[in-house]
Amino acid sequence: MLKKNKKIFLKTYGCQMNVYDSDIMLDQLKEKGYQSTSDDADADLIVLNTCHIREKAAEKVYSELGKYRVLKHKNPSLKIGVAGCVAQAEGKEIIKRQPLVDFVVGPQSYHSIPTILEKLNDEEKIVNIEFATQEKFTKLKATTNKKIKPSQFLTVQEGCDKFCAFCVVPYTRGVEVSRPVNTILNDARNLADSGAVEVTLLGQNVNAYRGLDESLKERDLPYLINKISEIDKLKRIRFVTSHPVDMTDNLIQTFGSNSKLMPYLHLPIQSGSDSILKKMNRRHKASDYVNIISKLRDVRPDIALSGDFIVGFPEETDNDFRKTIEICHAVRYASAFSFKYSPRPGTPAFERDDLPDSIKTVRLSTLQAVIKDYQQKFQKNLVGEKLSVLAEKPGRTEGQIVGKSPYLQPVFFSGKKDLIGKVVDVQIIASETNSLSGVLQ
Ligand code: 5AD
Ligand code: SF4
Repeated sequence: MLKKNKKIFLKTYGCQMNVYDSDIMLDQLKEKGYQSTSDDADADLIVLNTCHIREKAAEKVYSELGKYRVLKHKNPSLKIGVAGCVAQAEGKEIIKRQPLVDFVVGPQSYHSIPTILEKLNDEEKIVNIEFATQEKFTKLKATTNKKIKPSQFLTVQEGCDKFCAFCVVPYTRGVEVSRPVNTILNDARNLADSGAVEVTLLGQNVNAYRGLDESLKERDLPYLINKISEIDKLKRIRFVTSHPVDMTDNLIQTFGSNSKLMPYLHLPIQSGSDSILKKMNRRHKASDYVNIISKLRDVRPDIALSGDFIVGFPEETDNDFRKTIEICHAVRYASAFSFKYSPRPGTPAFERDDLPDSIKTVRLSTLQAVIKDYQQKFQKNLVGEKLSVLAEKPGRTEGQIVGKSPYLQPVFFSGKKDLIGKVVDVQIIASETNSLSGVLQ
C-alpha cells in the first residue's frame, strides 16, 4: 500500500494532450492518497511530463532534472519520474544521462504509475515505455470527481500515422488509435455533470478519428461531434489538432450545421511551398489547403483559422519561404504558431543538411511579423461586435472576469463571479495584443 498524504509535484511541458494526461495522472495519484503541491521542495514525488517535439523542449527536461540534485540530497526518499514523449523516445537513456531519475514512463503506460511507485521500494529503477493505448484509455478516466473548470479537454484519439519527415510524434505516441464512441460520450457527460460547458476534443490527428460505436460500426469525427452536442449542458465543442488530408467535406459542413461547434480551426500547413511539403511528406499541396479554407469560409464565413509553420526545413530556399508568406496572405490567420526547424533523431529529415540558424532566425521573425499583423487585423475587426463569451475565471483585478470568445481569444469584462460557467453576451470595445475587452450586455 502507498502511504497516505504524500505530495506530488507534477510539471507539464508541451501540448494540450500532455496537460490532459497530467490531469488524469494527478487524479489517479490522488486516489492513492497523494496531494498535489506547487512547491517541488515539499514533494515526495516529482514527475515531469515532457515534450520531445523540438530539441529545446527535450533539453529543458534535463536542465530541470539537474536542479533536483539538491532536493534528492536533502530527502533521499524523494522519487523522481519522467513521463511523456521524452520518456517514450529516450527510455532508459534518461537514467543513464541523469541517474537521479527513479522511473521512466511513456504516455501509453500512465495507468501503471501506482504499481511502479509500489515496486520502487524493491527495485532500483523502472522503465515502462510499452504501447498499450487502449489499456490506458480503459484504466484511466477523465477527471470527474471534483469541481472542474468550464472548459475541459477530452482525448478522443492518440497517435499519428502520417510520418511527416520532421516529426517525432508517430514514434513517441505510436499509431493512430481512436477511443470508442460510447466511452467518449460517457466522459463528456461526466465532464458536463461536473461543470464543463466547453469540451475540446484532443488528438494528435483528431480529424482522422475513427472510433467504434456500440454496434461496432466505425464512426468519424463529425458523427462524434454531433453526438456530443446532444448533451444539453455542453454549449461549446472544439477539436485540435487536424491534418489537411483528413479534412473531409462532411467535417467542413459540420462547421455550418452544428451551432455548438465553435468557429475556430487549427489546421497546420507547415510550409506554403509544394516542393517543401513533398520533402516533408505532408501528402498535400498548398492549393489543397487553400481549397479547404475556401470551403470552410463558404459554410462559416467568420471562422478563425490557425496553423503551424516550420521555417528552415532542409533545402528550403528563399523562394520556398516566399510561398509560406503567400499562404499567410491567402488565409489571413487569426493566430498561428511558427517554429524553426529542429532536427530530431530518428526522423527521416534528421539525416538531411540543416540550414544555418541565421537563415532560420530571419525567416522566423519575418513570418511572425506577418502572422501578428493578421492576428491584430482579425481582433480589431471584432471591436464593436457583440460576441457570446464563455465566462471562465476571475481576472486579476476585483470584479473582472476572463472569458473566451468563439474564436478562442481571451475576453476581459466586468461582472459578478457567479457568471463563471455561463455563456454571456459581451460587446467588444478594445483589442489588445493577445486579448479583447468588452462590456457585459
Ligand atoms: N522542428 C520544428 N517544429 C516542429 N514541429 C514538429 N516537429 C518539429 C520539428 N522537428 C512543429 C509542427 C507541428 C507542431 C506541433 O510542432 O509545426 O505542427
Ligand atoms: Fe507530426 Fe505530421 Fe503527425 Fe502532425 S501529422 S503529429 S506533424 S507526423
